[in-house]
Amino acid sequence: MNTLHSIAQLRAALSRARQDGKRIGLVPTMGNLHAGHITLVEKARQRTDFVVVSIFVNPLQFAAGEDLESYPRTLEADQRKLLDAGAHLVFAPNVKEMYPRGMDGHTRISVPVVSEGLCGASRPGHFEGVATVVSKLLNIVQPDLAVFGQKDFQQLAVIRKMAQDLCLPVQIMGEPTVRAEDGLALSSRNGYLSEAERQLAPQLYKTLQSIASEIQSGQRDYPALIERARQQLETHGLRADYLDLRDAISLEPVNAQTTDMVVLAAAYVGKTRLIDNLHFELK
Ligand code: PAJ
Repeated sequence: MNTLHSIAQLRAALSRARQDGKRIGLVPTMGNLHAGHITLVEKARQRTDFVVVSIFVNPLQFAAGEDLESYPRTLEADQRKLLDAGAHLVFAPNVKEMYPRGMDGHTRISVPVVSEGLCGASRPGHFEGVATVVSKLLNIVQPDLAVFGQKDFQQLAVIRKMAQDLCLPVQIMGEPTVRAEDGLALSSRNGYLSEAERQLAPQLYKTLQSIASEIQSGQRDYPALIERARQQLETHGLRADYLDLRDAISLEPVNAQTTDMVVLAAAYVGKTRLIDNLHFELK
């Protein structure tokens, strides 16, 4: 398994793989890999013959004051995990390779509607940064398949819409969230939590589960339900940034006819902002 840092080298390696008739899979990441990322690599391995994992902490998707500088960069440990997982190639460009003329004035991809609200409201410009870097990675690698996690539900919706709207010749696949035993979704940002905060964090998923189960039991007063759940989070030491019920496909607010639902949340545990979601069909 090679690690390449330049687009030119990567393209040369990929053209050899393609000439050998291999189907190419891409798993874009920001590194600091955990078991959630590894399931995406495994899925790509099942579906394609040559799996590229990109590791790039993309400055364009971080707003001023966010954790761009402190985001964990652990390339050597990541390489070991990817070797074990059977990835074929790691693409780890630096910022200059991805944005040689800087980021100001760089072409940006904006994906209306699905990018608005939820994380898009709390993190202005975030999804433009994500869509731009993912479209660059898709153009660089030209994979047959790209695999993403449902943990970042809105991100996956943004990427699916971008791929459809721009007629990108790639299949986008979403994989279920991998969780710790106590339900906390694995995330590189969990490493920011103190021991005490780590004990509180599983309440985020517990709250999403209780919302889904109340709805399945017939509760239809969604605003009251969400408000109670918000208070439940506060009681357990978490502060909701947003907590919302949406149509799982369009991400538009639910109405009386909606049956394919997702409840999405972002919450602060101390200074760390965690996100999670739970997708369910109304019975
Ligand atoms: P990153 O947070 O490193 O996540 C890379 C991929 O792993 C994403 O598709 C994400 O949804 C998935 N993932 C993260 N935690 C997961 C979990 N617990 N279970 C399953 N999948 C999980 O998301 C990004 O990077 C970036 O925004 C990126 C798409 C790479 C663009 O810069």
